[in-house]
Amino acid sequence: MSEKKEIVLSGIRSTGNLHLGNYFGALRKFVAIQDNYDCNFFVADLHALTTSPDPEALHANVKNIIAEYLAAGLDPEKSTIFIQSDVPEISEMYLLLNMHVGIGELMRTASFKDKARKALGLGSAADNESEEAFEKEIIGAETNKRVNAGLLTYPTLMAVDILIQKATKVPVGKDQLQHLELTRRFARRFNNFYGVDLFPEPTDFDFGGAPVKVPGLDGSGKMGKSEGNCIYLIDEPKALRKKVMRAVTDEGPQAPDSPMSEPVANLFSLLELTSAPEVVESFRKSYADCSIRYGDLKKQLAEDILAITTPIRERVADILADDAYIANVVRRGAEKARERAAATLSEMRHIMGIRKF
Ligand code: ADP
Ligand code: TRP
Repeated sequence: MSEKKEIVLSGIRSTGNLHLGNYFGALRKFVAIQDNYDCNFFVADLHALTTSPDPEALHANVKNIIAEYLAAGLDPEKSTIFIQSDVPEISEMYLLLNMHVGIGELMRTASFKDKARKALGLGSAADNESEEAFEKEIIGAETNKRVNAGLLTYPTLMAVDILIQKATKVPVGKDQLQHLELTRRFARRFNNFYGVDLFPEPTDFDFGGAPVKVPGLDGSGKMGKSEGNCIYLIDEPKALRKKVMRAVTDEGPQAPDSPMSEPVANLFSLLELTSAPEVVESFRKSYADCSIRYGDLKKQLAEDILAITTPIRERVADILADDAYIANVVRRGAEKARERAAATLSEMRHIMGIRKF
């Protein structure tokens, strides 16, 4: 009996180049599961439009991410690699699913609140008096400061990405779990409303072990595009070394076995992701006996990061130079993605009463 592989799907918004956080938190894991699952990885360019509407930048970013996916080891022979906007069925289903989504539940989504506040130039949620005041700001916003409707319906579009492929496992970061919860809710609601069993309810992909959080080099928090603290997979060696050497540290351990400050603990986290266990151990020892020199640690860290990123950077350059190859990968990916998308959409249209005469 042939065993059906579980359908895994994940996407990254095309808002910039991929960084070490994306690599260790997502991409490297995607690469590792390609043999065992029916894998679907895409570039969420329609989602990127909600915050980054510059046409030239969008096009370049889509191409870069596809090249970075491939360079990091996503294999078009094993996984379906595609661009969201190449699957027009997604846009149609987004319209249909929106009929079953409440504006209230969308407005209560954490990512919407954050992004809407940013669009309106407001402070963080904590500085803001009340929900009511926030809603008034949105409704009363001048058109030059509007909160676009795409931002509000972002979770609908993400749910469609997942449900249209009937994916059951969705590897995402913690910040996306609320969107996944909404996806389950929308799936359940649709199934119940029409008395059908069309959509499976997807769950987060459990890779086992503690989730990876790649810290930034600026002392606190995580590495992220909007934090401006990223080491990119395509950073040139010189620039990369400079970033690492500039990483925030402290005045050094003042007594044996002192606890680590956050910036130093962050450097060790990066070292753990990139360096051999003996190397990490030896720096831990020198920290414990106060003989550590942060400069040495940073030099080692920079070289160990480069050992990982250099082959990727070189492959990215080769792939970017080969437009025909990229076009071929995304065309084949779109064909495969559209096949399942078209089938789901057709079932959905029928269920909803949109039928041919
Ligand atoms: P960014 O925060 O830079 O905008 P995204 O939100 O587009 O990155 O993240 C895409 C994927 O990369 C998600 O699965 C997310 O969990 C992962 N990721 C991003 N930053 C990190 C990080 N610092 N550590 C671990 N994983 C991360
Ligand atoms: N919203 C996700 C993010 O910002 C990207 C995304 C869009 C996605 N559609 C998806 C992730 C479907 C997983 C599945 O990271």
